[in-house]
Amino acid sequence: MTSKLFTAVATIVLFSALIVVQKPFNGKPRQMEAVPITDAVGPESVAFDPLGDGPYVGVSDGRIIKWQENEHRWIDFGTTSRNREGCLGQAEQESREQICGRPLGICFSEATADLYIADAYMGLLRLGPQGGFATPITTHADAIPFRFTNSLDINQSDGSIYFTDSSSLYQRRNYISVILSGDKTGRLLKYEQGSQQVTVLLTNLSFPNGVALSKDGSFLVFSDTTNCRILRYWLTTPRAGRLETLAQLPGFPDNIKRSPRGGFWVAMHSRRVKIVTWILSCPKLGRGLIWLVPVEVITRAYSVLSKLRGSGMAMRISEEGEVLETLELKMSSMSEVQEKGDHLWIGSINLPFLGRYRL
Ligand SMILES: *[C@@H]1O[C@H](CO)[C@@H](O)[C@H](O)[C@H]1NC(C)=O
Ligand SMILES: *[C@@H]1O[C@H](CO)[C@@H](O)[C@H](O)[C@H]1NC(C)=O
Repeated sequence: MTSKLFTAVATIVLFSALIVVQKPFNGKPRQMEAVPITDAVGPESVAFDPLGDGPYVGVSDGRIIKWQENEHRWIDFGTTSRNREGCLGQAEQESREQICGRPLGICFSEATADLYIADAYMGLLRLGPQGGFATPITTHADAIPFRFTNSLDINQSDGSIYFTDSSSLYQRRNYISVILSGDKTGRLLKYEQGSQQVTVLLTNLSFPNGVALSKDGSFLVFSDTTNCRILRYWLTTPRAGRLETLAQLPGFPDNIKRSPRGGFWVAMHSRRVKIVTWILSCPKLGRGLIWLVPVEVITRAYSVLSKLRGSGMAMRISEEGEVLETLELKMSSMSEVQEKGDHLWIGSINLPFLGRYRL
């Protein structure tokens, strides 16, 4: 027992040292405004309704909240779970996520003004324009339940939804385990409005995360988080069905959003540090670490350390994968960058505010 504890402590110290020592990527972080969120944290994904109102974000206690710019406050819009007892104010109590819900990816249908939600625990849901309780659409595909529904994008012409289930084994609060164990049970899926069928497009993926359609819809891109890559999957043209690497990144990519100025914003959860590369090169090591150290401890240590390091990073990449722009802000980690007008709205999985940055 003592030796186990010793190994655990030694591992964390090593982990910490290597994270702290990492150099900042590119000069000084830029300033941004924090729009505070009370009673909850982690506005993971950002969406605007078809009238341009919002942003809307999903937060840690399972609510979807809407920003009222004129009143300068957030109002409640909806939830993904009906069982709300004890949910309010669940700032960082991840143990209740599977009861309260954890809405991650959100996106409006421009035709119907319905909000589609990928909730980490509740699957794919729809929330009407009046808000309230979301209606479940699907929770499994090919007889395998979703375990970590994560992100989505909508084909605005026919309403079909492309979404990711990051793992069939690990839930969101154990996301570190998905990376450390080298898990490859993630899936890319499609939901069709007409037939109401879910199709599995790709299986055996390692932490598929953010997903976004290209401007003309001929392909989609998604984050291969464990391998710090963006993959491109062709939907139409003679290349349909082909999967390629679009970009290799210096960090772990989370959500991806199209930029109105072209290309995609890719937000990075954290930089890829040497120790992680090293652990990933040997899955046994990662699994050993998960076995030795409770995953909450690893997650907490990682999050405290990235807060200490204090700067988050995102990149705008072209449809061909070239880096067009790098954004570094005083924000320990970013989950999404959503560009609207002359502002970038920046989400995270664990911070008590939404970032707003003037371009
Ligand atoms: C996925 O992985 C499993 C187990 O390794 C394998 O049996 C299966 O053929 C793979 N499926 C595809 C589509 O590659
Ligand atoms: C989007 O929907 C339109 C209309 O059905 C279709 O022509 C187009 O191929 C779809 N795009 C994708 C990527 O599925």
